[in-house]
Amino acid sequence: MSSQIILPRILQVGAGASSAIASVVQSLHCERPLIITDKMMVKLGYAQTLQNYLNEAQMSVDVFDDTVPEPTVASIQAGVSKVRSGGYDCIIALGGGSPIDSAKAIGILGKFGGEMKDYKFPRIVSEAGLPIIAIPTTAGTGSEATRVTIITDEISDEKMLCVGIGFMPAAALVDYQLTVSVPPRTTADTGIDALTHAMEAYVSKKANAYSDTQALAAMKLIAPNLRTAYHCGSDRAAREAMMLGSTLAGIAFSNASVALVHGMSRPIGAAFHVPHGLSNAMLLPCVTAYSIPAAIERYADCARAMGIAEQGDSDDSANQKLLIELSALNRELEVPTPEQFGIERHRFMDLLPQMAEQALASGSPNNNPRVPDSAELIELYRQLWEQ
Ligand SMILES: [Fe+2]
Repeated sequence: MSSQIILPRILQVGAGASSAIASVVQSLHCERPLIITDKMMVKLGYAQTLQNYLNEAQMSVDVFDDTVPEPTVASIQAGVSKVRSGGYDCIIALGGGSPIDSAKAIGILGKFGGEMKDYKFPRIVSEAGLPIIAIPTTAGTGSEATRVTIITDEISDEKMLCVGIGFMPAAALVDYQLTVSVPPRTTADTGIDALTHAMEAYVSKKANAYSDTQALAAMKLIAPNLRTAYHCGSDRAAREAMMLGSTLAGIAFSNASVALVHGMSRPIGAAFHVPHGLSNAMLLPCVTAYSIPAAIERYADCARAMGIAEQGDSDDSANQKLLIELSALNRELEVPTPEQFGIERHRFMDLLPQMAEQALASGSPNNNPRVPDSAELIELYRQLWEQ
């Protein structure tokens, strides 16, 4: 059996990668880019730096900086209008996962119209929208190298998963220097998100020989460097390893899917506005404990790749070490419980059936080595609260 692997056409990787923006735009045969970003990237001067590089290459460029964290249907509308009216031939998506996810949706809606819900899973979006050049500034969602975007329907409080080659950036400039100023909380949340991508891709039922190599390489890069990046953001070696690991983890899960952690995480994010990486972090220990019995060898491989189990450890011993490490990591990175985050118990309990339904509808739990039914999902959410 073969697997189809989908990647960006250009990956520019390493210190200063983002300074190649003008030549990358030109090599995609484009000349009229729109930068889609957020106000923080403008404030940090990153958007202006890109503008300068493009202006030096005689390209005029506009900036749309109204993207918001955890983008919604309403939040991308102004961007769609801007794309429709401006005659742009490509989009430069600059920022964390939210600006990149917004840009992907804007690239499709701006060209083909319709509503975001028309494009949600299980539909596979194979149309080619405006080419996206993604420049991630966190490590990270991996969105620069995935065929996925997540847009929240604020009417139904659903995080809509949208999938297809139409959402794969044409190019990604993976420049760890842009992550050095990311604050510790965001470093932790996005870093655990990246680790979760690699682990879930590796244990996914859709894992394949190619995605396995990317997932294992990602875990080797991320696991030994996440604590350092959190405690000492200026450590360039740790930031470089995290950035590359994040992109490889994105490639891994884009070609193997995520699984139960992400399936359960999105409804928590939609209902209680918990940042994506943080809700993943909350779930990772208990969902891993639930899933290990169905994929003992695979999880043990993860523990060894992460450097927390020895090659000679038995699978069971490696998996025990994995569970200890995931909990220890959450403590050290100060990941709150849902209650500590400020969620009210009665609201969480009231929404259990809805969250379970949304998790199942996303399709992600079906990729997990152990697939829960609705009652088990509710039980897992309960465990998350009570652990
Ligand atoms: Fe994620």
